[in-house]
Amino acid sequence: MKNIVFLLLVFTVLVGCKNDSKSSDETTLNQLNVYTHRHYDSDKQLFEMFEKETGIKVNVINSKADELIQKMVLEGEQSPADVLITVDAGRLHMAKEKGLLQPVKNTAVIDSILSPNLVDKDYEWIALTKRARILVYAKDRIDPTELSSYEDLVLPKWEGKLLFRSSSNIYNQSLMASIVANDGEDIAKKWAQGMVKNQARKPKGNDRDQVKAIAAGEGDIAIVNTYYVGKMLNSNDRVELEAADKVGVFFPNQKDRGTHINISGIGIAKHSPNPEAANQLIHFLLNEEAQKVFALSNYEYPVNPSVENSEILKAWGDFKEDSLHLNLLGELNKKAVILFDEAGWK
Ligand SMILES: [Fe+2]
Repeated sequence: MKNIVFLLLVFTVLVGCKNDSKSSDETTLNQLNVYTHRHYDSDKQLFEMFEKETGIKVNVINSKADELIQKMVLEGEQSPADVLITVDAGRLHMAKEKGLLQPVKNTAVIDSILSPNLVDKDYEWIALTKRARILVYAKDRIDPTELSSYEDLVLPKWEGKLLFRSSSNIYNQSLMASIVANDGEDIAKKWAQGMVKNQARKPKGNDRDQVKAIAAGEGDIAIVNTYYVGKMLNSNDRVELEAADKVGVFFPNQKDRGTHINISGIGIAKHSPNPEAANQLIHFLLNEEAQKVFALSNYEYPVNPSVENSEILKAWGDFKEDSLHLNLLGELNKKAVILFDEAGWK
């Protein structure tokens, strides 16, 4: 009899444990923790659409990009992160190098939608949207037929006219990496030196500040990402709106490799508690409906070629993109930073 009671007890405990772990599994399977540094309405809308379609609850953990990566490092195997969404291929590469990501599944679907240069070679990150790093110029002072390429910005005629942000910014580091990849180290270093020589002021501020500086007459030509110009042209802030109205948009390097392209992208966390749902989210964000939301609300270029650009981007016209594999932006990041330092680009 004692033995039977003992067995019953063991059985009850075991069944209890099993039920506990099952219920916690079910909770895990019904939620997805998204570590993201994007803070746009478009993303909020997309997560709501995903919740409705799948019944999987999306928990958004928002922070600065480098802080999110640091958080994942510190959390290690215990990290609740399922996916990491961030901007710039250089930064996604950094997350991969730190061993924070795992390959995405159903790569055939990804290959059928995305052009190969927008996907990590090991499928540890993929692009969600594209942005071009373009030139904007003072419409009343610059004849755009005088502009041509990033490389030609070092010509003596542009002395004292260029505006750009600091070399500590990842967008500029990736642009520099693309110049190293396309032109070689020597030319890239000379280019950076020439840019510094032609600068209108010491690098400061963000992309929008460069546009405002043109409007204020501090310089005539700036390097910025396309979506900032789109946002400023539709801003509720009068200063931003008026500044954006004063600049023209120019896509450099159309006669050779094309304009430098970067992305915002997504990867599945190495220790994701719910990799199935993470894969589901990735495929959801690439479908036409989701890509339309990205295209219409944030002035970014969709990565799904079946989706049209927003009206503003259409008005700027089609352009040739540099098809350099974006893995190179990450691989050459350290080199880019060193060359910037050597060239004195602050
Ligand atoms: Fe940005």
